[in-house]
Amino acid sequence: MTDREYRVGVVGAGMVGRRLVAVLEQTGFPMSELRIMATSARRQEIAGKEREVIETTEDAFDGLDIALFAGTEGESGASRLFGWKAVERGVLVIDNGNDFRMDERVPLVIPEVNADAMGEHQGFIANPNCSTIQMVMALAPLHRRAGLKRVVVSTYQAVSGTGRAGVRALEQQRRAAAEGGEFEFGPYPCAIYDNCIPQVGSLKDEVPGYYSEEIKMIQETRKILGCPDLAVSATCVRAPVSNSHSEAINAEFERPLSPEEARDILGKAEGVVVVDEPAESRYPLAADATGVDPVFVGRIRRDPSEPNALDMWCVADNLRKGAALNTVQIAWEAVRRGLV
Ligand SMILES: NC(=O)c1ccc[n+]([C@@H]2O[C@H](COP(=O)([O-])OP(=O)(O)OC[C@H]3O[C@@H](n4cnc5c(N)ncnc54)[C@H](OP(=O)(O)O)[C@@H]3O)[C@@H](O)[C@H]2O)c1
Repeated sequence: MTDREYRVGVVGAGMVGRRLVAVLEQTGFPMSELRIMATSARRQEIAGKEREVIETTEDAFDGLDIALFAGTEGESGASRLFGWKAVERGVLVIDNGNDFRMDERVPLVIPEVNADAMGEHQGFIANPNCSTIQMVMALAPLHRRAGLKRVVVSTYQAVSGTGRAGVRALEQQRRAAAEGGEFEFGPYPCAIYDNCIPQVGSLKDEVPGYYSEEIKMIQETRKILGCPDLAVSATCVRAPVSNSHSEAINAEFERPLSPEEARDILGKAEGVVVVDEPAESRYPLAADATGVDPVFVGRIRRDPSEPNALDMWCVADNLRKGAALNTVQIAWEAVRRGLV
């Protein structure tokens, strides 16, 4: 390891940006400077302290070694406006958003699964989608043993995955339901309170009938595992849960794999914790996963309709392993590999 300290930028001070700062500090990332940027300059409480936030401009990246991006996706988002400009200034960019995940120049990395992909980086590394990260954390160790053939997943995703606007919408609707008043739908097409919405993202031509979060899960899983033809189907559902995503995963393998073997493999996998005592009603729960690092897997059982398939339940904090923690782990891995 190195004695060097790094000048680190965090772009975005929302749900993910604030946690990036917290995880950098909690993991003792060696920093000589921490520069926090957003759309406007101000002082803001972040990770327990009031801090200076500066306006994001091209010049604001001068002198940085690494920049962790969590500044909204799309045309007006930070990654498209400033990501590659920062790379031109010699900064290693690690991006949370969707804009460049499938770009051939950009490695898409879960450090426990495919850290070697970072070796080919061109200054820009992407963090996968939160739902993809936790599913692939559960599937990759089993894939290594038995070869994945097909994956069918249904998600139950927390409102924090929509950012501040999603959290505010659920809180407002909870209050309105208790005290009376109109529901404000916020970023959703209908009420999220007392409801499940089978739409995460928007429709895309690439896979007719599927919303963008489902397409991300299909395409990103193939890229991370290096299996371009892997059969994957996803139904992504927004649930009235504040934080942590849950997933029901059905995985079919090329070779036989018993639930006992799967439990043993996942019990030894880095970053995964098995909670699987169904007779005691012990299984992973969103409320237990919030604020902690592991991906929890349970309800591991043989699919009675297909001998080489298993069903399982997978839960993780979408803001930590699904976003900030994975990003900071990539930064640590870049330091370890001398890439920065
Ligand atoms: N939430 C999750 O579970 C999750 C998981 C994985 C990945 N992600 C991705 O992470 C990114 C951030 O998500 P979030 O949940 O933190 O969103 P958020 O709570 O809505 O916060 C967005 C932040 O981005 C800043 N921002 C927006 N446009 C910017 C620009 N052009 N330049 C600089 N900063 C800009 C905003 O600045 P102001 O504060 O000044 O408005 C705000 O601080 C998104 O791309 C999202 O898709 C989120």
